[in-house]
Amino acid sequence: MTNPFPQDFLWGVATAAHQVEGNNVNSDTWFLEHLPGTIFAEPSGDAVDHYHRYREDIALIAGLGFTTYRFSLEWARIEPEEGRFSAAALDHYRRVLEACHEHGLTPVVTFHHFTSPLWLLRAGGWESDRTAELFARYCDRAMAHLGDLIGVACTLNEPNLPWLLESFGIGGEAPENRGKVPVWAAAAERLGVDAATVAPFQFCSTGAGFAVKLAAHRAGTAAIKAHRPDLQVGWTLANSDIQSAPGGEEIADRVRREVNERFLEASRGDDFVGIQTYGRTVYGPDGHAPAPEGAATNQMGEEIYPQGLEATVREAWRVAGVPVIVTENGLATEDDTQRLAYLKTAVDGVASCLADGIDVRGYIAWTAFDNFEWIFGYRPKFGLIAVDRSTQERTPKDSGRWLGTFAREHTAAR
Ligand code: NOJ
Repeated sequence: MTNPFPQDFLWGVATAAHQVEGNNVNSDTWFLEHLPGTIFAEPSGDAVDHYHRYREDIALIAGLGFTTYRFSLEWARIEPEEGRFSAAALDHYRRVLEACHEHGLTPVVTFHHFTSPLWLLRAGGWESDRTAELFARYCDRAMAHLGDLIGVACTLNEPNLPWLLESFGIGGEAPENRGKVPVWAAAAERLGVDAATVAPFQFCSTGAGFAVKLAAHRAGTAAIKAHRPDLQVGWTLANSDIQSAPGGEEIADRVRREVNERFLEASRGDDFVGIQTYGRTVYGPDGHAPAPEGAATNQMGEEIYPQGLEATVREAWRVAGVPVIVTENGLATEDDTQRLAYLKTAVDGVASCLADGIDVRGYIAWTAFDNFEWIFGYRPKFGLIAVDRSTQERTPKDSGRWLGTFAREHTAAR
């Protein structure tokens, strides 16, 4: 196949603020991590101290050959109290963006990556109709300070994840049942809010309805565009390759419609849609089927299936009909050889989509550094760069060197 990758293709690695920065103390997630009896394996602590080490980190990413760095702004830092915006936090993100430009990296900026300010939880969180407006106000303030330096904007990260988790039979406790779970009931009491408000990992709960998230995405997009009409804006979706085993066709169809297609249809008016795929999800007559006997699995026990990405990119193009950016794709494994093979297959899948005329604009791997994998803590290793958390020393893995070199070889001279 001749090289199908356009010269301006976005080749990158991604992070999210809470997973790498460290000490995100004003966020809802920090609060939930520290509750007695919490579902989090460990607290995030210093993470990989990216808040202080972003300069060397950005230089390292660029040095490997990447052209793009996707990271998120932390709302809890920028607006630590409702209506009070921190100039220091905004200045910090301005320096991060400047460092990207100094190193020739296009900054792909996510405005909300799972975490919210703790005050938002007190105000009803992602179940409240007011949240769209509050999110748009934060986007507006961030854009006023940072907008001129942003390369691509993502509003919400994985707003459809709760429904995917629910189809696995995890998460998504109905609001009326939350008060019955001691850890959430205690949290609600400490916050002085109704028991139905506090969910495990609130943005990732189905209680936070589709309508609120869609409204936030639309209002956020408008606020961003008001500052930079030319900026490409979209959201990033958790789309697994939904498949069925015999007898599971109906369930698979329902999940595909509810989790993937509903959100893709809502993306039709956007500049692009971000696709984040890690593998396939197979449904049998009893729901989500476990990994097939003997299949290689990742550190979360799911089947390793890099071919899933090609299928979801094709689905996104078919259903949403807008340009696609792969904003995340990767593998949790201690075995970097396995990761390298996974990335090669995934990138081949993207190449075949491009060869068929699908408008894919970028491939951004998850993730730059081994980091805080939410409720699983630091055990899963998704990084293209290893981090020794006792010294914070960074060491690129072969997979990172391979992808960076591939990026360099398929990109216009910079
Ligand atoms: C998707 C999420 O956006 C990211 O935060 C998470 O770490 C990866 N998936 C891996 O689970």
